[in-house]
Amino acid sequence: MSNGAMPLPTDSDRTEAPRHVAIIMDGNGRWAAARGLPRAEGHRRGVEALRKVVRAAGELGISYLTIFSFSSENWTRPASEIGDLFALLRRFIRNDLATLHSDGVRVRVIGERGGLESDITAMLTEAEELTRNNNRFTLVVAFNYGSRQEIAHAAQRLAQEVAAGKRDAASIDADTLGNYLDAPDVPDPDLIIRTSGEQRLSNFLMWQAAYSELVFVPIHWPDFDKAALEGAIKEYATRERRFGGLVAKTGS
Ligand code: IPE
Ligand code: IPE
Ligand code: MG
Repeated sequence: MSNGAMPLPTDSDRTEAPRHVAIIMDGNGRWAAARGLPRAEGHRRGVEALRKVVRAAGELGISYLTIFSFSSENWTRPASEIGDLFALLRRFIRNDLATLHSDGVRVRVIGERGGLESDITAMLTEAEELTRNNNRFTLVVAFNYGSRQEIAHAAQRLAQEVAAGKRDAASIDADTLGNYLDAPDVPDPDLIIRTSGEQRLSNFLMWQAAYSELVFVPIHWPDFDKAALEGAIKEYATRERRFGGLVAKTGS
């Protein structure tokens, strides 16, 4: 509780870990600037934080962790920074894939693959293929991802099916469209965390976030750790989820 008040009384359900946590890992640049370091160093330290947070999420009983690692709009950054971010992704997969696999982590990737360099596409596919039978924990990497683009792509595929006479337009409802998103079998996030104080979604999981609880933390991503994750989960546990109804539900 941020105001220092006594915690609200909770029933036993409310201490349940969220099943799916999604994180907007923001503030690498500000972390670096505050220390007189280049932005690239902030991104490098951000990957270190990520490594620890993936482990912590498993320890805290979370089943799915989605991380926003590169947005469709991040292409507007200087080419040198984009190069740094892609180099870190390459290094992360090269160095960490084997460990993730032996830890029972399934890696999924959402976002646009077309237009990426072929070695990156190959690495993303390799990560998914190698880990596809793991079921202890799922790490969803949102890379070259934008929610509007994801929804537009789903609409395009549905429109093609209608044009081909395979589908009746009137039969398309929210569930149908949801099934055409990038990872339709992954449950919606229960909790979305954004670091670094910004309070916006920045084109992240806008469809899936319909009933997610949002927690904004002031610390920059490289400083985010297990204790910070536990803090966000505690905040989540105080929320009443009603899903449009009258009776509060907790957990997933
Ligand atoms: C998050 O940190 C990493 C990416 C968006 C890829 P930023 O690079 O956005 O850091 P700030 O927001 O400039 O501090
Ligand atoms: C969102 O952060 C994207 C990622 C964390 C990958 P940004 O730093 O790009 O978002 P804005 O520009 O502040 O909204
Ligand atoms: Mg940012």
